[in-house]
Amino acid sequence: SAPIRLGIAGLGTVGIGVVKIIQKHADLLSARSGREVAITAVSARDRMKNRDADLSSYEWVDDPNELATRDDVDIYVELIGGDSGTARESVELALKNGKDVITANKALLAMHGQELAELAEANGRVIRFEAAVAGGIPVIKTMTESLAGNRIGRVMGVMNGTCNYILTRMESAGLPYEDVFEEARQLGYLEADPTLDVGGIDASHKLAILSSIAFGTQVAFDGVEIEGIERVSIDDIRRAADMGYRIKLLGVAQMTARGLEQRMSPCLVPAESPLGQLQGGTNMVVIEGDSVGQIVLRGAGAGEGPTASAVMSDVVELARGVRVPVFSQPASRLTRAQPARTAVP
Ligand code: NDP
Ligand code: HSE
Repeated sequence: SAPIRLGIAGLGTVGIGVVKIIQKHADLLSARSGREVAITAVSARDRMKNRDADLSSYEWVDDPNELATRDDVDIYVELIGGDSGTARESVELALKNGKDVITANKALLAMHGQELAELAEANGRVIRFEAAVAGGIPVIKTMTESLAGNRIGRVMGVMNGTCNYILTRMESAGLPYEDVFEEARQLGYLEADPTLDVGGIDASHKLAILSSIAFGTQVAFDGVEIEGIERVSIDDIRRAADMGYRIKLLGVAQMTARGLEQRMSPCLVPAESPLGQLQGGTNMVVIEGDSVGQIVLRGAGAGEGPTASAVMSDVVELARGVRVPVFSQPASRLTRAQPARTAVP
């Protein structure tokens, strides 16, 4: 059959990772998709920037909006970032112009996921976002496919690689905050605005997306109670270690009798527990289903290869023709869950 044609907007950590996988694994991808996976054109801000991949066989387009509306693009892959501006505009244009969309942009989905899912539905298109939550861990497909026979009661875990990297490196290497922050930047973990990482916002975007899928409700980022790691000091980390604990930025979402509870905050976990043992940019997501019990997923939560790996799972799924919506029912029928604020004693 005909190749599936991608337009990739954003050639930073994730975008270049996607290009590299498509070049490295062309045969594997085409065997798994049943058709060739081809890049038609690419876009980023600076045409002259030196990038870590050969882009010479793809057309360069300065404006992502043009990429999103081209006749020779089947899937618009948005890897720019940000919950507004070009990312949002180009995704909307793509859906209105008959393209399916793949994005890693959790900020966009947490803020506008409902409108975008409805727009996709109204235009007979689909939007896929495996890479938006927990980097390389296939958590969305696990919930929607592998755990399809379950009512999910709770989702929790460590969902920000930067924070886990900072918290563990400060303890294990005894390095100051500034040094480990710079290491995280070098590894490609940071958001363009890193206050989203350390402020717990990025992890909360992911938690809101996961709870929407888990509980079949609209994405409710404004219902997450958020505390980041900015106030966690090296002394806190050391005192916790002395008592046999580690500090983790932990997210919990559960449906209670009072409504949907979503919390993101630094928590003490036993140092010897699986959560306590998480090092560096690793994430862990725990899902509780009424049939399966507890499932634990663990893997790289950020960075070039892992995130691009998740993007490719969406590419192959769409290339195979799998077009069911990610949410448990059509987006237009999703309702808002009653938010349950945590009772403060
Ligand atoms: P980068 O900052 O590394 O790359 C962003 C890319 O977008 C750059 O190539 C930049 O162009 C391009 N860009 C920015 N603004 C525009 C614009 N107005 N028009 C055209 N191109 C533009 O980001 P990442 O690759 O790290 O992240 C991309 C997305 O993936 C984000 O939504 C992020 O949240 C998400 N994500 C990132 C992960 C990670 O580990 N890094 C993990 C999971 C999700 P130029 O290069 O010319 O400056
Ligand atoms: N900045 C994010 C993190 C990237 O550190 O987890 C992956 O979503």
